[in-house]
Amino acid sequence: MKKYHLRIFWFVLGLALLSCKDGKKVAPISSDRAVNDLYKEAYRPQFHFSPPEKWMNDPNGLVYNQGVYHLFYQYYPEDIVWGPMHWGHAVSKDMVKWKNKPVALFPDEHGYIFSGSAVLDSNNSSGLGTKDNPPLVAIYTYHNAETAEAGQDDFQTQGIAYSLDNGDSWVKYDKNPVIKNPGYRDFRDPKVFWNQKENNWTMLLVAGDHLQIWQSTDLKAWIMVSKFGKEQGAHGGVWECPDMFPLKVDGTDMEKWVLLISINPGAPNGGSGTQYFIGDFDGRTFTSDQKEDKWIDWGTDNYAGVTYNNGPNDDRIFIGWMSNWAYAQETPTEKWRSAMTVPRKLALRSVKDRVELINYPLGNFDKIPVLGIEEEISLNENSVKTLSFDHFNSSEVLFKTASRSFNLEFQNGLGENLNLVLDGPNQQFVLDRSRSGKTSFDQDFAKNVQTMPITNLPKGEYEVRILMDWSSVEVFINNGQYVMTAQIFPNEFYKNLVISNPRDAVLELNGFAINGIKSIW
Ligand code: FRU
Repeated sequence: MKKYHLRIFWFVLGLALLSCKDGKKVAPISSDRAVNDLYKEAYRPQFHFSPPEKWMNDPNGLVYNQGVYHLFYQYYPEDIVWGPMHWGHAVSKDMVKWKNKPVALFPDEHGYIFSGSAVLDSNNSSGLGTKDNPPLVAIYTYHNAETAEAGQDDFQTQGIAYSLDNGDSWVKYDKNPVIKNPGYRDFRDPKVFWNQKENNWTMLLVAGDHLQIWQSTDLKAWIMVSKFGKEQGAHGGVWECPDMFPLKVDGTDMEKWVLLISINPGAPNGGSGTQYFIGDFDGRTFTSDQKEDKWIDWGTDNYAGVTYNNGPNDDRIFIGWMSNWAYAQETPTEKWRSAMTVPRKLALRSVKDRVELINYPLGNFDKIPVLGIEEEISLNENSVKTLSFDHFNSSEVLFKTASRSFNLEFQNGLGENLNLVLDGPNQQFVLDRSRSGKTSFDQDFAKNVQTMPITNLPKGEYEVRILMDWSSVEVFINNGQYVMTAQIFPNEFYKNLVISNPRDAVLELNGFAINGIKSIW
């Protein structure tokens, strides 16, 4: 259990039992708040998903069905800190605009509703729907706060619920839980997918320091078939939120399996982060000969990310929670807390002698064309160019370069700045948010300078794309080969971008564009 969970755990327990145990509906938006006040608050992301109000963490139940992308998420509708978990719900048709839906799953007598996944049970193997109207089935962890408090080890179990109206309403299975706990204090976050090799449902479940793989023919009766990872990968913290899927390398016939495991703490820049393994899956067992730890995103704020089931065109689409358990509950927002990353498409690409997991934004955001700046930028050594722009708070900066060194500094009129530096000699990218705005809410956030090793960039030109959305920045280098996501809280929008050339004879940034991005809300 993470650092802050324990602190508030006992405090919210009584409240939780009173307000939620009987499954009473809680309105997702307080009735005294005019809906059109929403999404205009300070720091509110304008083209990322954030909940209408209150606390959100992990994305859950990502499934595409009947033209709709579902995004369920860990939600506490009573406060802006973590509490008895529900599943909030939103839908999108294009992965750019989101529509909020009522809360989908409420705590019940088995416990809070922790993270999990959802599948379309096309053949009605569960018998919970019909052949003509196959059910969406959600598979999630129950966290029983009472037995946890009593000191038992078996307080996390797995349950299922189903929907016959494409996610609008949900019924819990009456024989929950479907997997009891054999005695692991951390036993959670089931990711279920259809296993074509074995023609059954396969579940990934994490048990503290390792992954377990379970199988079922009906989503109700499960058996464990293998384990992975006790001796492999990063173990700085507990393993959470697994995902696993095949991808073709460079779009060829060569297929490799990718396993995602979030860990908290133990990420390379502190707190929580998501590692990945490239390997093989024979239908029952995952194996990987990977020696080094690999991270899907080197920034501090991309956690618990998982991918869509049943996505169209075989796309493997990933969404992460844009925060970090080290300070998630202290960030300076008032009505709601935290957002999701933009949806990203995953791919395997061979770069020089390595296969790398690529993640790159999927959607096409609506631009504000009149305000865009586009030009070729050429800077002599030690020279500087300043570009002013009114919409950096909701913007995209895009260019191509062959250089291995550049400095970008976003500045506002208060002397606050965000520094992005490609440091060629040290083969690293640096994101310095230590003077970016409000930072004092957390000691580590305040001195935060994040680094990402850049050791395998191909020769020649590559793309740099930066998405900034009021309280977040996402940096994609070489179309998602190197990625950093971080939260920022400037006291006023950045208005200037200062580009400097620290060491090349000439720094050339080609097709340089700054686009405003329209609000999706
Ligand atoms: C990850 C996590 C999950 C758990 C959920 C509880 O951030 O700790 O392991 O299911 O959050 O909200």
